[in-house]
Amino acid sequence: MKFKIPRGTSDVIFEKAAKKQYIEKMAIQLFKQFGYYPIVTPTFEHTELFQRGIGEGTDIVQKEMYTFKDKGGRSLTLRPEGTAPVVRAYLENGLASKPLPVKLYYCGQMFRYERPQAGRYREFWQLGVEVLGSKDAFVDAEVILLLVRFLEKLGLKELELNLNSMGCSECGKSFSKALKKYLADKIEHLCEDCKRRAELNPLRVFDCKVKGCQAALKGAPLISGFWCEDCGNHFESVKSILDNVGISYILNPALVRGFDYYTKTTFEIRTPYLGAQNALGGGGRYDSLVEEFGGPSTPAIGWAIGTERVIMAIEELNINLPIKSNIDVFIAAIDGARDEGFKILNAIREMGISADMDYGERSLKGQMKLANKLKASNVIILGPDELNKGLCLIRDMNLGEQSELKISEITRWAKDKFKLRKVDFDG
Ligand code: HAM
Repeated sequence: MKFKIPRGTSDVIFEKAAKKQYIEKMAIQLFKQFGYYPIVTPTFEHTELFQRGIGEGTDIVQKEMYTFKDKGGRSLTLRPEGTAPVVRAYLENGLASKPLPVKLYYCGQMFRYERPQAGRYREFWQLGVEVLGSKDAFVDAEVILLLVRFLEKLGLKELELNLNSMGCSECGKSFSKALKKYLADKIEHLCEDCKRRAELNPLRVFDCKVKGCQAALKGAPLISGFWCEDCGNHFESVKSILDNVGISYILNPALVRGFDYYTKTTFEIRTPYLGAQNALGGGGRYDSLVEEFGGPSTPAIGWAIGTERVIMAIEELNINLPIKSNIDVFIAAIDGARDEGFKILNAIREMGISADMDYGERSLKGQMKLANKLKASNVIILGPDELNKGLCLIRDMNLGEQSELKISEITRWAKDKFKLRKVDFDG
């Protein structure tokens, strides 16, 4: 019987895996540079965490969660996003007693039962940051700057940063009331789902993709008309700081994003290269969520990007990431020389140089072919005759030149040749 991968999931292998790893390493390096600390939360949480955190009326909670009962009868859910779990962890681990704000980053799989298509999967990877414990507009600017710089560093261009403010809960209430009134007049043009949304959570009508609902929203009130003085001032400050550091943005008053927890600044970064799934990442403030989870009043903000979409955009733009895809040294050892070859292999690896040897019982010719396939820049050839004389042959695969070297001299040769640089990407 042959097994197939579940719909909406993928195996990440070779080049794609190398790209994913490169993106994650680059992001983590940048996160650290900006003073963020890693956090790892479980892949599943109590279902209620997401119902309460993301909002009962959202598409994610209504339709997209992987929810199951464990053997103890508890309802658990594979995390569809990382913010609610981080807030839970913040409270459960007493992080509020650390110097605020607490700045965290994460990298992990998320799960959403969506209809799979290019850029939309049922299991996907997110890189994200969350800053808890500051309402300072400079924090809003910092997280946005971090998002933009990260994508720019990867070589992505023509990024469109959409910016909006959802206001505080008070602004939200007046907006919701006005929207409900507006939608009541349009009710016959709305789909069945939106008829319900219009009554229970009118904001969520903005998430609907049905053409009739989208058309009904033309002329709807916008949140910008309902900002209180504090929210208006906060948004002005964020914009002015972004202007100051040269981050351009598009004001998009219709950007509501699909979670109930957002307050004040919201943003989404889009690319013209990905068709329907054009959002690379997004986020915003969620100043009431910590309190909602039983904690003290704690303003917070964060974002997440989808790694698969970033890879797609990189491929669409033919960006060559500087990924090292070859090895430095291949040891071609034959007959009785494999023991010595294995020793040399490990001595070279200890120096931080990438090296490999044959484990497939190939002839010398076969081993040279393999070295070529692995794009080895140098091959150390060891046969019993050379070994008896304490010698080996070194072949420079790029120049096609071969020379003799004393085995005792190999580490000195390697030191000179590779100047003891680090093998891995280090930024
Ligand atoms: P989100 O906009 O739902 O936000 O997801 C962020 C990014 O994850 C999207 O822009 C997209 O690149 C990627 N993504 C989402 N769904 C899928 C999918 N089905 N397949 C592939 N990629 C996907 C959040 O998740 C919020 N927690 C962000 C946040 C953090 N807000 C505040 N803090």
